[in-house]
Amino acid sequence: MSVDKIFDVENVTLRFGGVVSLNDVSLYQTRGEILAVIGPNGAGKTSLFNSLTGVYQPQEGTITFSGRDAKPISMIGRKPHRVSNAGVARTFQASRMFSALTAFENVKIGAESHYGIGAVGAMLKGPATRRGEKKSDARTIELLDFVGLRERANTVSASLSYGDRRRLEIARGLATDPQVLLLDEPAAGTNPSEKVQLTNLIRKVRDEMGVSILLIEHDMKLVMALAERLYVLNFGSVIAEGTPEEIRANRAVVDAYLGSSTTETTGA
Ligand SMILES: Nc1ncnc2c1ncn2[C@@H]1O[C@H](COP(=O)(O)OP(=O)(O)OP(=O)(O)O)[C@@H](O)[C@H]1O
Ligand SMILES: [Mg+2]
Repeated sequence: MSVDKIFDVENVTLRFGGVVSLNDVSLYQTRGEILAVIGPNGAGKTSLFNSLTGVYQPQEGTITFSGRDAKPISMIGRKPHRVSNAGVARTFQASRMFSALTAFENVKIGAESHYGIGAVGAMLKGPATRRGEKKSDARTIELLDFVGLRERANTVSASLSYGDRRRLEIARGLATDPQVLLLDEPAAGTNPSEKVQLTNLIRKVRDEMGVSILLIEHDMKLVMALAERLYVLNFGSVIAEGTPEEIRANRAVVDAYLGSSTTETTGA
C-alpha cells in the first residue's frame, strides 16, 4: 500500500547568498501524523516551515501538499491566504498575537477570514456578513473552550500568562479549520506544568480534530512524548529520520544535538 502523504518535500535547497539554509532536504509527513523536526539553532527548521508555507522560495526541489479530496498542489511561492485556504495553518517562533486585543478577538480574526468576511464585508454588514459573523463568533468560543481559555475570552492578550498565550496561538491557528498545523517551538518560554498542558492539547488537536501536526521544538521531553516520527536537521541537511527510540539511539544525532540538550531539557 502506498503512503498517504499530506506533505512531500523532495530535494529542497534554499540559499541566502552564500548561506545554505536547506541543503537537498527530502522528507514527508503522512496524513494524521504527529511529526517533529529537531536540530540545533540555525539548523534550518524555521526555514523549512517558511518554505512549506510559501514565505521562502527554495531555489531547487519540490514541495507538494495533498489536501483531503483535493488535487496535490505545489507550495513553493504560494501566497499566505492561499496557503491558509489550502488547509495549512502555523504558529510562529516569536508570538505574533495582537497584544492589545482580547483572546476572543485574536481567534475571531482567524475565524472571520475562514468564513469569508473580509474588510469590505465587515464595513457593509449585509445579511451574508452577519450570518458569517454569527458562525465565526460561535466557532471562536468553541475553540477557546477547546484550548481551555473560555474564561479568558475577554482578557487582553498581553495580560495572559505565557502558557495561555501559547494555547491561544494554537486556537488562532485552528480557526482557519486547517488539515495540518505547523507549530514552531510551541513550548518555548513555558514552565513545566504549562508544558504538560501543551503536550496534552497538541495531542488532543490531532486525536479529536484529525489535524496533522508538524512540530519544531527544542524541549526533548515534550518532543519525544508527542512525536510519532522525527527528522533531525543539522546545518541545513537531514541527518536522521526515525521513531523517538531510533533517534535517541542514533550516534550522529547524539553527537550533533542530543548530547548537550538532553541533560539541559530533562533536568537529568
Ligand atoms: N531571511 C533570511 N535571510 C538570510 N539568512 C536566513 C534567513 N532566514 C534564515 N536564514 C539563515 O538560515 C539558517 C537557518 O535558520 P533557521 O531560522 O531556519 O534555523 P532554526 O533551525 O529555526 O534555528 P533556531 O532553533 O534558532 O530557531 C541560519 O543560518 C539563518 O541565518
Ligand atoms: Mg527557528
